[in-house]
Amino acid sequence: MTESFDADWLALREPADHAARRDALVTTLRAGLAGRAGAEPLEVTDLGSGTGSNLRYLAPRLPVPQHWRLVDHDAALLRRAVAPVGGVEVERWVGDLAADPGAALPPKASLVTGAALLDLVSEQWLARLLAACADQAAMVLFALSFDGRIRWSDSHPLDAELEDAVNRHQRSDKGFGPALGPTAAAACAARLEALGYQVESCTSDWRIDVDQTALGAALIHGWVGAASEMVPERAAELRAWGVARAEALARGEVELTVGHRDVLGWP
Ligand SMILES: C[S@@+](CC[C@H](N)C(=O)[O-])C[C@H]1O[C@@H](n2cnc3c(N)ncnc32)[C@H](O)[C@@H]1O
Repeated sequence: MTESFDADWLALREPADHAARRDALVTTLRAGLAGRAGAEPLEVTDLGSGTGSNLRYLAPRLPVPQHWRLVDHDAALLRRAVAPVGGVEVERWVGDLAADPGAALPPKASLVTGAALLDLVSEQWLARLLAACADQAAMVLFALSFDGRIRWSDSHPLDAELEDAVNRHQRSDKGFGPALGPTAAAACAARLEALGYQVESCTSDWRIDVDQTALGAALIHGWVGAASEMVPERAAELRAWGVARAEALARGEVELTVGHRDVLGWP
């Protein structure tokens, strides 16, 4: 089943995504790209770009000139992506990546990147993509892969059941074969190391409190739906859990951490 993503959802998550990302990883990335920067633009390929959140985060932090190839099967999302700073050229590549992960790579990519993508793909798809990146000696940065942690500042009897059901749903096919889900970042790091890459990985967790109740409510709604698909006989209890958690978040009684990881690799 192919996943489609709503522009409103991507806009809702973008501030949390950008706040979660770590300067240290960008510093290592910049150092790795330094030898490649020059008169020719850095060639950056962003897979599953959506409306360009990864472009908006990374482009201002990297040396110019840059040429970005934004890749997505949703042309309407891609149309919203524009260069956030001068010296950055943007190309939109509309196509389905499922069958051939390397299809969208230019002949000489400096950096292949993606945000909130890897947890959707399969082990086999990832292996083919990273092999194609290694063939070009491209740097690789995959940010914001969900790592399975849904943690609250206090406990509710259904938290563990909800987290377990959501994580099983995460492993279902999202259009690329059986999804890596919470294992995506670890699988990416292991495969890069097997290809002889050096790897730096860090957490990029969302911290959600009373100031982000819209994001929290959307997440809770999505989790209740996903968990109820896995255990339909528990749907009513899971709905009640969702109401209780959303109300507690809106009252400022509870905070939520959603675990993510970023993985950077260089040959
Ligand atoms: C979770 S969204 C992340 C979007 C963006 N990177 C961000 O951080 O806001 C995943 C993106 O992957 C794209 N996508 C999903 N399956 C795809 C496929 N088979 N081929 C190309 N793009 C795909 C979706 O359209 C969506 O824009």
